[in-house]
Amino acid sequence: MPSMSHAAKALLVAAMALPTAMASSDGPMVPSYEIHLQLDPTVVLDSSYRLTSPVIEEFAMPTTVTKKNVQYIDTVDEALYAQGWSCRIRNIENESGFDLTYKWRLEIENGDITTALNTAYEDGWNSGQGNYEAQVDWYLTFQELSVQRDYTASSSGYSGTDDPTEADSRTMLIDNAPKMFDNWVSSGWGTTELESGVIYGPVLTKVSVGTWNGVELDIEIWPIENSAGTGIDYLVEASFKTDNYTFADVGRTQLQDLLTSKGWFLDASNSKEALVLANYHPTS
Ligand SMILES: *[C@@H]1O[C@H](CO)[C@@H](O)[C@H](O)[C@H]1NC(C)=O
Ligand SMILES: *[C@@H]1O[C@H](CO)[C@@H](O)[C@H](O)[C@H]1NC(C)=O
Repeated sequence: MPSMSHAAKALLVAAMALPTAMASSDGPMVPSYEIHLQLDPTVVLDSSYRLTSPVIEEFAMPTTVTKKNVQYIDTVDEALYAQGWSCRIRNIENESGFDLTYKWRLEIENGDITTALNTAYEDGWNSGQGNYEAQVDWYLTFQELSVQRDYTASSSGYSGTDDPTEADSRTMLIDNAPKMFDNWVSSGWGTTELESGVIYGPVLTKVSVGTWNGVELDIEIWPIENSAGTGIDYLVEASFKTDNYTFADVGRTQLQDLLTSKGWFLDASNSKEALVLANYHPTS
């Protein structure tokens, strides 16, 4: 939870960002929607932890998967996460460079997306910030608003899907840090915290891309350490994206019904990022 009041933060942001805000087109951000539903790993994965044929066939997926090695950087006491921020680094199979993401998120209460967008606007996020994308992450039992910005950093010296070391992770995130992130709490806050950032993960995820209802449907498999650190739990998530609220809302129910009728649906609601932050306990 934020340690500063919204009012105090809005004042601070206004003081720092007023000239740009006045020059840009100004209003709350317009989000896209991403629906996330979980599948039962004991049913949809085979003994090698790959999707079974009925799932692959239902969504017209190729048998090949794309590996994405994901890690988050935060301080040992999760100072960034406590302010709504996360810094993610991914190495995506066969793509050059590391993928860097700075993401801010806000809980949406009682499905009231408009209020969340207005709160974000008071916190300094507006529709003129073309480098940022706003998205409503819509899980089974909750919704979050996220605003994110992506960069690519050189992966020279690394091979395969290896993620960068702690030292390199800190450096590339500090070097690319956007001002909205760096100055969120006070000037230079973000990069100062990153100087003592540690790695949460990595998690070597596998993504299958198919289609459903005329849109791309992804199924991601995340082998995530359990909270006791004694083993791996497989999180399997189906997701689709759309700009259309009605399609998101109706499609969410339709997809859940389909998964339920197949016996694949899992009655669970997890943000993958939150689970990794909660279950990994880096100490240095
Ligand atoms: C990545 O490249 C290797 C070697 O060319 C290939 O075998 C593999 O299928 C590719 N993976 C993806 C996800 O495209
Ligand atoms: C949004 O989705 C609904 C439900 O699928 C559809 O009826 C409507 O035409 C879509 N609107 C736009 C603007 O695409």
